[in-house]
Formats: sequence, structure tokens, C-alpha cells
Amino acid sequence: MSAVLVTCKLPSSVLAKLRERADVDLYAGEAAIPADELRARASGKQAIVCLVTDAIDRSVLDAAPDLKIVANVAVGYNNIDAAYARSKGVVVTNTPDVLIDSVADFTWALILAITRRLSEGERLVRRGAWKGWALDFMLGTELKGKQLGLVGLGRIARAVAARAPAFGVHVAYVSRSAPGDGGPGSKNVLATAESMSLDRLLNTSDVVSLHVPLTPETRHLIDKKAIARMKRSAYLINTARGPVVDEAALAWALQQHLLAGAALDVYENEPAVHPDLLGLENVLLVPHLASGTAETRTAMADLAIDNVIAVLGGRAPLTPVP
Ligand code: GLV
Repeated sequence: MSAVLVTCKLPSSVLAKLRERADVDLYAGEAAIPADELRARASGKQAIVCLVTDAIDRSVLDAAPDLKIVANVAVGYNNIDAAYARSKGVVVTNTPDVLIDSVADFTWALILAITRRLSEGERLVRRGAWKGWALDFMLGTELKGKQLGLVGLGRIARAVAARAPAFGVHVAYVSRSAPGDGGPGSKNVLATAESMSLDRLLNTSDVVSLHVPLTPETRHLIDKKAIARMKRSAYLINTARGPVVDEAALAWALQQHLLAGAALDVYENEPAVHPDLLGLENVLLVPHLASGTAETRTAMADLAIDNVIAVLGGRAPLTPVP
């Protein structure tokens, strides 16, 4: 039987399916597997099932000469040196598609929560500071008639766009690919959406939502200069990857009220959050939860395991990374 390292607890039904076909070495610690242990336990394995918190770098790939597949339980795979893996003939897979709806719903949850000041209001109630209803108290921003600017136009961004008509929001987007590339129905979703340059999108959007992978080109895409292009009344939403935003620049801009607010699910150095963000009322901070429904996380784990089973069985992976 093949040997598989699984770096985290998976739903038991999913793990059982893998155990029928492979010897599973399960790391069951609460926190991410330490790098030394990852290297040591990768040795001799044909497959690794891992999370975004596991750095699958050259040292890990070199420690596992028999490796055939690294299956990330995530759509983003910036934690894996995919080019090096490819050069060694190791397949890398991710879990697209199955998390589209949960992440798109969550993006709207953040948009609604920050524009209507939900976390700020909740903090106020909990500390006993609410003095009662008043006509001008804690006013938020109406979404109807406003522009949502999507940076990136992958499947998640398109699902976010598909939900926009329910809120009367106009969608703008910046994308490197043609709008038709998103599969069935994607053209309809974008029928009324407007393609524009990043500068114009930042300039004109009331809410800017990030949907790009983390690459050398997108690292700090939203820096001080980009933020300066945004409206002072605008909100920034990040469910993509933390380092796409220069967190220090964002904290400074929020302190100076150069933006109305930001809602962040991801951070530059997770689980650390820039200390200047922690004291600010105009930022909503949640702990990397966008795909976090029981249904979706089970589907992600299941897809990762199906990729492992396919590759170890000599078949093509279901969802290799591009
Ligand atoms: C989570 O961040 C993912 O990439 O799936």
C-alpha cells in the first residue's frame, strides 16, 4: 500500500475512504505541523495531504523522493513550491469549485457587515455603551446604486458578482483573462458588469473586493499608492490572501480615515494581525473563515483525497493546479 501523510484531522468519512487504499500517517496536533516534523514525516511518503498553513517548500519536496502528489485542502496554493514540485514530477492539486458559494456568501457577509457597522455595533452593545435608539446613531452606508469593484475575475469573483443584483449593486472588475473564461453562465453574470483598469476601479468603486491569488505580481498590490487612489468613502474587502494588501499601509490609512473601512479574513502573517489594526473601529477582523462551512470543508477534504486516490491509482488528478 502507498503511504500518505495527512497533516491535519479530516472528517472521519473522508479519512476512512483514504485508509481503505493507503497507509495513513495522520498528524493530529491542534496547531500546524512543525516544519521539522513535516520534513521527517514526508520522507518515504507517496502523497501529502496538506493545508495552507503547511509550507511545502524545496526542503520538504527533497525529503520525499517517492512523492507523487501534494494535495492541498484549499483553492490557494501559494504555500507550495509548485514549480519545483513540477520539476520533480510531483503533481500538485487544489480544491477549486467546491468552495465557490461559501466564499462568495462570506464575501457578501463581510461587505454587509462593514458597510452596516455590525462588528462595531456589537462591540458597543457588549461593553454596555448603548444609550438607546437615535435617528443619527451609527449610520452605515447603503449599498443600492453603489459600485462593487472586483479585483480578479476567477470563479469566486464571478459568484460574488452573481449575488450583486440582489443588493442593487453595479459590478466593475479588473481581470487579466477574457470575461468568457469562467464556464457556463459566466457571461450572463457579467452582462452588466464593467471591465476597467485597476486604477479606474480603485478610483470609482465604493467597495473593492480582492479575488486574486498570491503571486509575486499581486504581493502588496494594494499598497499606500493604491489605497490613495480609493475614495475616502470606500471599503476594502480581503478574502484572498493577506500579503495582497500592505497591512501597515492599510492600518495607517484607516487611522487617518482615508478609507471608510475594511473587512479582512486573511492577514500577512497569520495568525498574527498587525497590532495597529486591532484597536481600530473601522475594520472588521475575522480569522480566515471564508470557506468555513461544515459542508464545504468536508467537500474540500473529499476532493483532496479523491485527487490522491486518482494519482496513486495511476490516473490523472481531478483538479491539478494550473
Ligand atoms: C483558503 O484560504 C483556500 O485557499 O481555500
